[in-house]
Amino acid sequence: MIIIIGSDEDFHAKYVLENLIEQGHNAKYLDTRDYPLIKWSPERENDYIVLDNEKVYINDVQGLYWRWYYGINYGTSDIVYREKLSALESFLTSIEDISYNSMQAVELHYKKGLQSKIMQNNGIRIPRTIVTNDKDVVADFYISNNKSIIYKPVRGGAYTQKFKEEDLLRTDSLINCPAQFQEFVDGVDIRVYAFDSGETFAGEIIAENVDFRQDEDAIINKVELPVKIQEDCLKILKLLGLKYSGIDVRLSKDGEYVFIEANPAPMFYYFEKVTGHPITQTLINNLIKEK
Ligand SMILES: Nc1ncnc2c1ncn2[C@@H]1O[C@H](COP(=O)(O)OP(=O)(O)OP(=O)(O)O)[C@@H](O)[C@H]1O
Ligand SMILES: [Mg+2]
Repeated sequence: MIIIIGSDEDFHAKYVLENLIEQGHNAKYLDTRDYPLIKWSPERENDYIVLDNEKVYINDVQGLYWRWYYGINYGTSDIVYREKLSALESFLTSIEDISYNSMQAVELHYKKGLQSKIMQNNGIRIPRTIVTNDKDVVADFYISNNKSIIYKPVRGGAYTQKFKEEDLLRTDSLINCPAQFQEFVDGVDIRVYAFDSGETFAGEIIAENVDFRQDEDAIINKVELPVKIQEDCLKILKLLGLKYSGIDVRLSKDGEYVFIEANPAPMFYYFEKVTGHPITQTLINNLIKEK
């Protein structure tokens, strides 16, 4: 049995579920908006979760595909909400051994500064970075990076933008909300899907915009990465507690690979379609393998 965190509303959740079923596996969604009947214990003895009216014993679950976690509905009071959340999340956190990816790894990705710090402290090249709500620091950072920096959200959810000279005039508003600033790595985007089973699949994305998702004509070409960079990708998985990831890298004009972020629940359908890299099947093989 494979559990998929998500629902039919998410394309990738549905796509993986359909592929699993087609290949003869049993798979069910866990859509947490419908709070499940659940029994959890530290020993994982006869623990279960009821999905689609079926009692699914956790010891019979080969893998959990974490795609889209909805959280839970508020319910009747703060205390009930917190209790329900704590019970569910204790359970989800405790099954990290079978989770692609674990709740811990997903939560680390919400703290991107921390993700970057862990990478940097372990010899992975990341862009020079600051997270701040102090406009004075931004002005200094802009100058010390040859007036070539970008800004983007700390947690995610908005596009990356090139910082322009005139933006110095509107940094006052930072006091209301911090942002992340980085040296601009001039070059091309590389997306790498890395699996702890050892595979890495890469493609370069040729786009006009700083953030390729704003460019509908972006082109993706399959590429082979230098062995050292493949090893760095696998090292990042270990460092961040990921079993697989969609890692964003920039290849600078000087030929340097700079690591931007490691996504714990990446989309891959379009990338797989144009590059031919077997991402779905590698993910499925990992989900179903003996742990
Ligand atoms: N320092 C940088 N230099 C050049 N380009 C960058 C830099 N940081 C980000 N980008 C571009 O912007 C894109 C999006 O940035 P990033 O991956 O950090 O955040 P995100 O994808 O918006 O986060 P999330 O996936 O959580 O929404 C990158 O893939 C890259 O193309
Ligand atoms: Mg990204």
